[in-house]
Amino acid sequence: MEKRVAPGIYYIGADDKELDLFEGQYILPEGISYNSYVIMDEKIAIMDTIDARKTNEWLENLESTLGGKTPTYLVVHHMEPDHSSNVKLILEKYPDIKLVCSQKAVAMVKRFFGVELAAERLVIMGEGSKLELGEHTLQFFTAPMVHWPEVLMSYDLTEQVLFSADAFGKFGALSYDDPEGWACEARRYYFNIVGKYGNMVQTVLKKLGGLSIKMICPLHGPVLDTDLSYYIDLYNTWSSYEPEDKGIFIAYCSLHGNTEEAALKLASILKSDSSEKVSVSDLRRDDMAEAIEDAFRYDRLVLAAPTYDGGVMPIMEDFMNHLKIKNFQNRKVAFIENGTWAPAAGKKMREFMSALKGIEIVDPLVTVESTVKPKTVEDLKTLAEALLAE
Ligand code: FEO
Repeated sequence: MEKRVAPGIYYIGADDKELDLFEGQYILPEGISYNSYVIMDEKIAIMDTIDARKTNEWLENLESTLGGKTPTYLVVHHMEPDHSSNVKLILEKYPDIKLVCSQKAVAMVKRFFGVELAAERLVIMGEGSKLELGEHTLQFFTAPMVHWPEVLMSYDLTEQVLFSADAFGKFGALSYDDPEGWACEARRYYFNIVGKYGNMVQTVLKKLGGLSIKMICPLHGPVLDTDLSYYIDLYNTWSSYEPEDKGIFIAYCSLHGNTEEAALKLASILKSDSSEKVSVSDLRRDDMAEAIEDAFRYDRLVLAAPTYDGGVMPIMEDFMNHLKIKNFQNRKVAFIENGTWAPAAGKKMREFMSALKGIEIVDPLVTVESTVKPKTVEDLKTLAEALLAE
């Protein structure tokens, strides 16, 4: 597969529909694309390589696009292996090609490939550096921690195309026409992969704010070429840790079904008492990455878990830990606990979540004493009122 995305710019990436877990941890129900591009000009630039799993397909696309011509530059925006696996192969295949990258990427090339390039084969790009290709000129912007420290983005001044590295990427192969649109899997991708570094994303968005961008070419997911403010506004919301939607997300786990019953009862009370969006996730079975996504998406979160070994059921501990790692903040949080002889989950969850930035606790804590009883339902109604009053 090879296609022109703009004058002189060609897509040469590949879909991967066989990989089950991205980064060994994120499920891929519809695969993923590893994007790579070539700018055909007086000087030809290959824009990133792709994952080793799809080397052959990528090489075929590259060679057919080059049509026998020799590339001058290999631009490496990001050194994570899903994009850089073929860097050494290209350096060997084209002995005169120059590697265009950040200073930090040079050390990574050595670590990954044991390759130490001579100075004449390196073009180090920093903030605002330009690379002339002929008709096309690329201007580079540093984008540290979006999603590794060495990351660069580049902007084609001629075609007004932004090569955004991992930013604006999404899960899902390009051949999959996602009925849920771009945002759903882009949001799961963003919060789980880049979510911790919202401040760095904000810095990059400010840098890019002065550019007139007609097209975004990310390293995963579709090329974006219409209504770009939609995508940029979402990135602005996500990276500023503001909720995207008003709504209540209930994340629960349960040992014998009683905490689950309480969590689902709360959801049904909320739904019958309001038109608020209510989303529910069973942490034991649902995709944890999707639960992280929903926690960030909505403005209110309810955690429901039984007491276990004097603390909280481990899967809830795991979920809260994920939230902490991803810098979860600025949300209202309520709790439902269960305990038969010494309920402790509520206290543990409250202590953990209260330590995160900008977390506002919504009372009351609902305690299920082994099973849901009329008193529990009354308490859940009180909690629902408090959540809806927020
Ligand atoms: Fe798509 Fe950070 O690699």
